[in-house]
Amino acid sequence: MAHSTPIITFIGAGNMAQALIGGLINANHPTDCVRVADPSADQRQAVSGQFGIEAHGENARAADGADVIMLAVKPQVMDSVLDSLKHSVRPETLVISVAAGVTLAQMARGLDGHRRSVRAMPNTPALYGAGITGMVADEGVTRDDRERTTQILGTAGKTVWVADESLMDVVTAISGSGPAYFFRFVELLTRAGTRAGLDEADAAALARQTAFGAGTMLAESDLDAAELRRRVTSPGGTTAAALEALDQAGLDEIVDQAVQAAIQRGKELGQ
Ligand SMILES: NC(=O)c1ccc[n+]([C@@H]2O[C@H](COP(=O)([O-])OP(=O)(O)OC[C@H]3O[C@@H](n4cnc5c(N)ncnc54)[C@H](OP(=O)(O)O)[C@@H]3O)[C@@H](O)[C@H]2O)c1
Repeated sequence: MAHSTPIITFIGAGNMAQALIGGLINANHPTDCVRVADPSADQRQAVSGQFGIEAHGENARAADGADVIMLAVKPQVMDSVLDSLKHSVRPETLVISVAAGVTLAQMARGLDGHRRSVRAMPNTPALYGAGITGMVADEGVTRDDRERTTQILGTAGKTVWVADESLMDVVTAISGSGPAYFFRFVELLTRAGTRAGLDEADAAALARQTAFGAGTMLAESDLDAAELRRRVTSPGGTTAAALEALDQAGLDEIVDQAVQAAIQRGKELGQ
């Protein structure tokens, strides 16, 4: 039986780790139950100073005795990181990776067959507590492990479990890469406003705040996106004219193609 308050060790003290550690501490996870390992002394000092947690230069020292090991390193260093943790991972240790593209099989190989791992895909709004993380569990993950994972990653926003690992490429295509689609739309809306005569700064302010406002409505309202859209679209009005132009230009297909392209790329990178 694991501790009621699990000891959570982060391997890597970068952006994603700091977002999650901040979330945990804000959710009153005791600071003496969170540890971190990072090769950079500056990075260690930054996190131990900011959060008051133990920081180590050696991965194994931070991971020994941990109930949960969170892998928050770049995919390129994952194999060597797994190797450094082999002897710290016990059968009851839950391992969670947020590294893009690193498969459950790769983790199991690197950890001598350990199958109590979760592969998670957060997105950048996690840095503001407004992320969403897609997750898939390996065969040794228990119900309690899932709850624990949902709690930990839930401190950075919302969470979704998928049943099959192949769906992680779809999660990546929707929410992982998704923030960039909305940024691109704001860029294009700004450009259209500027071309139609607004100052660039005014056009940017209008487009950006509108994205924020629409996002807030999506987050706060119980209505789905289609209904919110219908409610701001009066028949024969300006919004209807714009939406019709978008449809006629094939927006529906464009979005489908974009998502398919991201899925395809995710598959290629995962090979
Ligand atoms: N940022 C996001 O929004 C986001 C979204 C989805 C997924 N992710 C995933 O999250 C992971 C981390 O991303 P990040 O943005 O947090 O990257 P990051 O800021 O570069 O953080 C990675 C940290 O790991 C450290 N590190 C490097 N080698 C290590 C080793 N052998 N052992 C322990 N620590 C080591 C790095 O130290 P040095 O700087 O000294 O190398 C750095 O502090 C990535 O795999 C990424 O795919 C991130």
